[in-house]
Amino acid sequence: MDVFTAMETCTAMRYFKEDPLPKEDLEKMIYAATRASNPGNSQGWEFLVIDDPETKTVVGEKVLAGMAPFFEARPPGKDGVEERMLAGAEHLAKNFAKVPAWIVCMARMVYPPQAPTESFMHSTIYPAAQNMIVAARSMGIGTCFTTFPGNAEPEIRELCNVPDDLHMFVYVAVGYPEREFMPVKRKPVDEVLTWNRYK
Ligand SMILES: Cc1cc2nc3c(=O)[nH]c(=O)nc-3n(C[C@H](O)[C@H](O)[C@H](O)COP(=O)(O)O)c2cc1C
Repeated sequence: MDVFTAMETCTAMRYFKEDPLPKEDLEKMIYAATRASNPGNSQGWEFLVIDDPETKTVVGEKVLAGMAPFFEARPPGKDGVEERMLAGAEHLAKNFAKVPAWIVCMARMVYPPQAPTESFMHSTIYPAAQNMIVAARSMGIGTCFTTFPGNAEPEIRELCNVPDDLHMFVYVAVGYPEREFMPVKRKPVDEVLTWNRYK
């Protein structure tokens, strides 16, 4: 698949088939992630793939307990698009354990070496994570960036024995899509592009 087609149809997928993903495909996604640009080529990224059913169940229960008050109080979306997004997010959280794999994208604070700074961890992990989801899309695999599993970070750390110096940033749900990939809706380029000088 052409890279532009992959980017244009890389919608957040919140509904997945339960079929497991081949290990090689998950490794290929991590390969794509680790081809990304990053500060000073410090490559302070690390990725934890969680596909173990027991771990997903324990983490999923904690995630849901944390999210339940939000779901109970959630007003309907402002329009059809927002409502679909919120309903999808709720479905994803409620079906945490059924998502075939979760990839926790993490970073170490290693850049710049003389004075490591937190913001460079974001600069490290997000280009890598974006490479990863576009690569997945090109392989017919759906993904969704999420931050809500952050409320289960202590459980993930304990169950998966994650070293203390790894910071968790984004949790990517991964699986074969149960719904169609759609074209992403984004602002047109002329709304966000300025040549040389603002008027
Ligand atoms: C850093 C980041 C965090 C996100 N967190 C969530 C999340 O917690 N739950 C969720 O359902 N979607 C999450 N998303 C996905 C966005 O909501 C989604 O990309 C956006 O609504 C645009 O939709 P589209 O990508 O399908 O076009 C996140 C995206 C990013 C980049």
